[in-house]
Amino acid sequence: MKMRRHRVFLLCTVGLCVISFLHYYKALHYVSLLRELSAPYPNIKSFIMVTGFFWRERGVATTPLSPASPEEAPPPPVLRLSDSKPRGAADLHTRTHILQDDKTPYFVRTKAGALCFRQGTEVATPREDSGKSGGPVATGAGAGSRRLVKCVCRPGWHGPYCGVPTMVYHSNLPTKERLTPRETPRRVINAINVNHEFDLLHVRFHELAQAVDLFLVCESNYTAYGEKRPLSFLRLLLNGTYDYIRHKILYVFLDHFPEGGRQDGWIADDYLRTFLTRNGMSRVVGARTDDVFVINDADEIPAHEGLVFLKLFDGWTEPFAIHMRKSLYGFFWKQLGSLEVVSGCTLGMLRDVYDGDGIRLRRREYYTMPGFRKYENDTGHILVQWSVGSPFHFAGWHCSWCFTPEGIHFKLVSAQNGDFPRWGDYEDKRDLNYIRDLIRTGGWFDGSLQEYPPTDPKEHMYAPKYMLEHYDRYRYLLENPYVNARAPSER
Ligand SMILES: *[C@@H]1O[C@H](CO)[C@@H](O)[C@H](O)[C@H]1NC(C)=O
Ligand SMILES: *[C@@H]1O[C@H](CO)[C@@H](O)[C@H](O)[C@H]1NC(C)=O
Ligand SMILES: *[C@@H]1O[C@H](CO)[C@@H](O)[C@H](O)[C@H]1NC(C)=O
Repeated sequence: MKMRRHRVFLLCTVGLCVISFLHYYKALHYVSLLRELSAPYPNIKSFIMVTGFFWRERGVATTPLSPASPEEAPPPPVLRLSDSKPRGAADLHTRTHILQDDKTPYFVRTKAGALCFRQGTEVATPREDSGKSGGPVATGAGAGSRRLVKCVCRPGWHGPYCGVPTMVYHSNLPTKERLTPRETPRRVINAINVNHEFDLLHVRFHELAQAVDLFLVCESNYTAYGEKRPLSFLRLLLNGTYDYIRHKILYVFLDHFPEGGRQDGWIADDYLRTFLTRNGMSRVVGARTDDVFVINDADEIPAHEGLVFLKLFDGWTEPFAIHMRKSLYGFFWKQLGSLEVVSGCTLGMLRDVYDGDGIRLRRREYYTMPGFRKYENDTGHILVQWSVGSPFHFAGWHCSWCFTPEGIHFKLVSAQNGDFPRWGDYEDKRDLNYIRDLIRTGGWFDGSLQEYPPTDPKEHMYAPKYMLEHYDRYRYLLENPYVNARAPSER
């Protein structure tokens, strides 16, 4: 009897717990805090509404490269690179970029008249005699003389034009039935800030070389902590490291550190995005309001299929987020779920709703922005946020702290001041052996261990294609170096 009462009581308590947790979960989800709390993310994506207007009022962000106080009248900033052979380095950060139309024939018209997306369509498609054979091309089984010819999609592609990738097909896009191919592709602009994520940068450039028309890459001569840092990306850009994609790179140089950024690292963190967007976009010539803007952190790499889709189709809603497979230290420590970050919109929306500020886009509250109703009214579009991908169909990769131990050490000491605790302040946490051990176990600096589902480099969307194709070079991110390192000697 007593036991039974106990059990009932226990069950009730558990039930209550579950209910209140669900409630809490929902509330959390609503303010989109969940992903911040769900994992020990060091670089917690900004949910704090640090006021961005502060910078605009002072005109710093809009006229970024001019001195703050005119009476001091210092000479215009020059890029200083100790060993620079100036191959035009001096004005790289003031050049403009003229957007061209992308003339790539993405679609092919079959003999029977169907318009098909090349990459998503079986090549054997255009068969004129398909009517009698009853092959996959003809669908007019009972339609008699009328021959309805459709594109035959390759695995992973959907829709009447075979241009909808699985990551869009299985997304929450509310307008899936109304997607139409564009005559002229949109141009896609991808904006990022770089510190020392150079390996991941190559991966991004290769993954998105076709999908993206222009990369805005911003580098500062200050660390997020406010200390001097060398212009390492510029050096690589000048020595030919990125020559394969250089015609698509617009270099953005942030030559000052925002006031207050030292005390509150979020200010510095946000300001990077504000500056990147404002300075970068002010130097883009020929942009149209229906071109696409995508802003990422250097460790967030969208899959190219999703961006190509945005480029080629009309009918999707904005802003859009991207569901990314998330992992820590390398792709081998996969974390549960996905990281969903609002990452893009059209240039029209960027200008009219977000006031040209990329950091506002990354916050979710577009419906509270002043220009929101007007933009909806003017365009006749109902703005509904959607997300490319889903927690089961990733549309990109977020690889957190994906460096060699030396790279992690460097990131620790240059981290911004505000993402507390700031592990770089603790000597034992900066120790390379300690860091190697974290990589080996998947542990976090606070001593905690997460739950990681098993992974296999052969699984779908394990890592970007370029990495898998250059396995040796990227092995340290694809296999746990400190677990596997022991295997050969044990043999
Ligand atoms: C950053 O670059 C600007 C412009 O060249 C210069 O005025 C400033 O002193 C530099 N800051 C550091 C920390 O080197
Ligand atoms: C550019 O410089 C980097 C670092 O100094 C070096 O590793 C790389 O090989 C250089 N690349 C070229 C093409 O010279
Ligand atoms: C919405 O658009 C119509 C014209 O299309 C205009 O008359 C009206 O003032 C607009 N409303 C707002 C709130 O902008």
